[in-house]
Amino acid sequence: MEVIIAQNAQEIAVIAADLIERQLLHKPNSVLGLATGSTPVGTYRELIRRHKEKGLDFSKVTTFNLDEYVGLPPTHSQSYRYFMEENLFKHINVPPANIHVPYGHADSVLDFCAWYEEEIKRAGGIDLQILGIGRDGHIAFNEPGSSLGSRTRLKTLTEETIKDNARFFQSMDEVPRFAITMGVGTILEARKILLLASGEQKAQIIAEAIEGPITSQVTASALQLHRDVVVIVDEAAGARLKRADYYRWVYNQKRRLIPTLLGQSN
Ligand code: F6R
Repeated sequence: MEVIIAQNAQEIAVIAADLIERQLLHKPNSVLGLATGSTPVGTYRELIRRHKEKGLDFSKVTTFNLDEYVGLPPTHSQSYRYFMEENLFKHINVPPANIHVPYGHADSVLDFCAWYEEEIKRAGGIDLQILGIGRDGHIAFNEPGSSLGSRTRLKTLTEETIKDNARFFQSMDEVPRFAITMGVGTILEARKILLLASGEQKAQIIAEAIEGPITSQVTASALQLHRDVVVIVDEAAGARLKRADYYRWVYNQKRRLIPTLLGQSN
C-alpha cells in the first residue's frame, strides 16, 4: 500500500486527479470504478476542470459505479445515478452507453447483480477503482460482516450508515434500507485502487483499515491484500496513523527521486 498524507481535501483531489489523468493517458479506453458520497466530489470537480481546460478525454472510457440504493428511481435527486450525472457525467464526454450504475429498480435484483458482474468482465475488468470509506469501515456498501470474497449483491444497510445518509433526505423514514453493491471480492479484482478519505471523523477507521488486522468487521482492511492500492488522506483523516512519518518519508523520497513512479504501490 502507498499512503499519501495530503494537507487538505483540495490536495487530495489534485493528487487523485493526477493519478486518474495518468491512467487515461496511459490507456484512453480505461475502465473506471466510481464512488459517490462527499469524498470524491473534489476529485470529480478537478477532472471536470481538466476536461474543460486541458481537454482530458473520456470519450473511450467505460465506468462502473460501486452501488445504488434500492427503491430510488435514477431520476430521484438522492439516487446515486442522479448524483453521478450532476457531479461528473454531464460535465465530461464519457459516452452515456459506457456508463454503468447499478439499477435500484431492477425487477430481479439477483439477475441484475449477476449481469453487472458479467458486464464488468465483458469490459475487461476495472483498471482503476476509486473508493471512499464509511465510518464503520465499509467500502461501497460492504458493511461490517460482509464476506471479503463477496460479489455484487443486495445489502441491508447498518443503522450507522442509514443515520449518516439521513442528512440527504427530508426524514429518516425516507432513507433507503437496502442497496445494490459491488462486493469486496469484486473490488479486489480492480487492477489499481485509490482509497480517499478526509476529515477527523475518518481518522479512527482509516488507522484500523490500514494498520489494523484484516477483518470482515472493517471491510476496507481487505485492501491490504491488494497489490496496488494508493490511499490518499488529509492530515485530519491520517491523524491516527502510527506510521505516518514513514508514509511521508516514502512519498517525499519518491517525489524527489522518481516523480514518474508516484502512485505506484510499495
Ligand atoms: C459510495 C460508497 C460509500 C462511500 C462512503 C463514504 O458510492 O460506496 O462507501 O464511499 O460511505 O461516504 P462519504 O464520502 O460521503 O463520507
